Amino acid sequence: MKFGFFDDANREYVITTPRTPYPWINYLGTQGFFSLISNTAGGYSFYKDARLRRITRYRYNNVPIDMGGRYFYINDNGTIWNPGWSPVKTELDEYECRHGMGYTKITGKKNDLKVNVTFFVPQDYDGEVQQVVLTNEGSSEKTFSLFSFAEWCLWDAQDDSNNFQRNFSTGRVEVDGSVLYHKTEYRDRRDHFAFYSVNDTIDGYDTDRDSFIGLYNGFNNPEAVLAGKATNSFADGWAPIASHYKKITLKPGEVKTLVFILGYVEMPVDQKFEADGKTINKVKAKAMIDKYSTPEKFEAGMKELKAYWDKLLGIFTVTTPDDKVDRMVNIWNQYQCMVTFNLSRSASYFESGIGRGMGFRDSNQDVLGFVHQIPDRAKERIIDIASTQFPDGGCYHQYQPLTKKGNSDIGGDFSDDPLWLILSVSAYIKETGDWGLLDEMIPYDNDMSIAQPMLEHLKVSFYHIVNNLGPHGLPLAMRADWNDCINLSCYSDTPGESFQTYTNPKFAAEGGYSKIAESVMVATLFTYAGPNYVEILKHLGKDDEAAKAQAEIDKMKKNIMESAWDGDWFLRAYDANGEKMGSKECEEGKIFIEPQGFAIMSDVGKDQGADLKTLAAIDERLNTKYGLVLNNPAYTKYYIQYGEISTYPGGYKENAGIFTHNNAWIICAAAYAGQGDQAFKYYSEIAPAFTEETSDIHKTEPYVYGQMIGGKDAGSDIGQTGKNFGQGKNSWLTGTAAWNMVAISQYILGVQPDFDGLKVDPSIPHEWDGFTATRQFRGANYNITVKNPNHVCKGVKSLEVNGKAIDGCVIPYEAGTKEFNVVVTLG
Ligand code: GLC
Ligand code: GLC
Repeated sequence: MKFGFFDDANREYVITTPRTPYPWINYLGTQGFFSLISNTAGGYSFYKDARLRRITRYRYNNVPIDMGGRYFYINDNGTIWNPGWSPVKTELDEYECRHGMGYTKITGKKNDLKVNVTFFVPQDYDGEVQQVVLTNEGSSEKTFSLFSFAEWCLWDAQDDSNNFQRNFSTGRVEVDGSVLYHKTEYRDRRDHFAFYSVNDTIDGYDTDRDSFIGLYNGFNNPEAVLAGKATNSFADGWAPIASHYKKITLKPGEVKTLVFILGYVEMPVDQKFEADGKTINKVKAKAMIDKYSTPEKFEAGMKELKAYWDKLLGIFTVTTPDDKVDRMVNIWNQYQCMVTFNLSRSASYFESGIGRGMGFRDSNQDVLGFVHQIPDRAKERIIDIASTQFPDGGCYHQYQPLTKKGNSDIGGDFSDDPLWLILSVSAYIKETGDWGLLDEMIPYDNDMSIAQPMLEHLKVSFYHIVNNLGPHGLPLAMRADWNDCINLSCYSDTPGESFQTYTNPKFAAEGGYSKIAESVMVATLFTYAGPNYVEILKHLGKDDEAAKAQAEIDKMKKNIMESAWDGDWFLRAYDANGEKMGSKECEEGKIFIEPQGFAIMSDVGKDQGADLKTLAAIDERLNTKYGLVLNNPAYTKYYIQYGEISTYPGGYKENAGIFTHNNAWIICAAAYAGQGDQAFKYYSEIAPAFTEETSDIHKTEPYVYGQMIGGKDAGSDIGQTGKNFGQGKNSWLTGTAAWNMVAISQYILGVQPDFDGLKVDPSIPHEWDGFTATRQFRGANYNITVKNPNHVCKGVKSLEVNGKAIDGCVIPYEAGTKEFNVVVTLG
């Protein structure tokens, strides 16, 4: 069942009922000011840091779901409603929500009054602009009252949700005409305030929540709205809010447009106040309000936003035989990659914005998805990440975006982390041809006195793996690898102990983790990422070093085939007792997804047919109609020696859930192995646009990936196998976005930046007659036509560039050439 439709021409998803199976949200803002907005106008705003600078309050996991947002209330002669339906939930005569690129439009109509609200965060602007267009579509005059509503958060979202003995008494506001100011702590230790304005006179306001709502009422029936009149309340402590009240009369056909602004302002310390030393100096706020004070200025801001997205989404476009692929590649997957880049894993409806910093592995992987859109910011991000690395190649697992320092609470020793840096740096160089990044001096642990060129960071990353091998010559598993829930050293039997950071006394003397437990996933990630390092060295003429590194990769491949090939697929790990994990010999969890894709893509055991055998095993044991499960069979018992994984009921999360992030690795691997049909099958099982028809089962947004989908074993613990199978969770902020962008664009469509130029080597469904693509790459335009006359999946028979035949499938980069017309014929 669908709850809306794609409007590709406008790059919008149009939601046609407010009762979506879960709140379906969008993100506004790309620089400093960010808002999340659901299809019923729920959500919240913050400046840069979702914990430390939260502007409006949100109640996660609330009953009912999605409480808190920016609401407009109408009282039309006793009929009370919101254009976004919630929170009053009066049935509307018409409802529509359009989520677009950086904006959301919500329209509601009731009793001939149509209210259309457009929300967006302009470029270079610290505020959310809301244009409200009210139209009397009836044949008689209408008089009604309009109320706006926003609830202020007292800045630090974590403190705001637990320090009530203080926070019930700190709220402060100021009212100046139609502008309602939130200045809690502004007089004291803060140099910032927020405001909510409207470009018209008002008939009243409220700034105190309990006066507006009433202590025993809710967002769905605020007393002031019921009474049809604001109380002009003034918050002093308790919960400061901002609500404008305006009486409006519209003749038949008459339209009234209002522009509201929810803004954030920082002031120099010596200019915070007017001469009286108390009143906020409003110069900056007034300039912000003036910037979007009319519908014309509002339109201009929207146009600028559109131009921004036209530019970003114009860098890579495709036309394939499948419009679902086109809308994913051209619009939504690229959009999600940018949002994930901006927000990392901080603020969504599932990430509370107060927990984690930026992940070392997460952010490096995000780079793979957006580097073509904004290479400069990718470079900056890579440098920030690398600056938190330790001199021995280990890494802080996370860093704080505000300080850019490594987070010592979580520390290091996640075995996969260093390898992702090799991949992100390589992706950046392949995209831009900017080898200069390797010469940039990058500190270790943010200490500039021990800085070394980026190339050295790659070296220590590579050798961190080589220097930490276990008994089978495979990388030590340490606290966890990519799978945070396989903790072969950090297991404990004490409730509440962190699986990732707990130091088991058994291993304390050995440095905190087992010297026996090994990760096959890290071994195959090493053989996949390592060759990039070798190619970089060769390019720099460092042939001896390249040969030395290559020898390590070859040795690792040998070790994998000797100790980690299970006959039909690759093992997952050796645990701290030296027992196999993810083997036929295991009672449960016989096969895992993570090591397989990277093994195939680095040709481990290819001469023995390991690639195709593994793909067959994956298809047989892991595939379902909703995607590939992470492991099979699911764990039904608690295996303490594996850490967190078996604490999840079967079918969820890392215990046999469909973890969409790693599905992409198999899509890439199948495409790499020439199995275009298989690759596309897995792609279409999870790509959001393909799940649209089953939105009632999938539940989360049909335009973005989520982290997880319930696996085939979901419900088995309670004897209801299949319950929640196919149900999406944790949408928006996930490495799935980047990796699926890589899977479809670079592996299936095969348009892949390489060190020497752009490579085109598709691996597509055999039915396709071909496709076309445009790609901006290193300052030139590539117009690519792929023809598939013989209906194969893979194999470039000929490549023509500007009318000339070329050998191989890499288009040699030529400085100065601005247009490359490329014709690829498969066969
Ligand atoms: C979460 C984490 C990511 C990890 C994955 C698998 O998505 O953000 O770092 O790799 O879970 O456990
Ligand atoms: C939990 C989650 C996992 C996440 C980890 C770190 O283990 O299941 O997905 O990556 O926490 O936050």
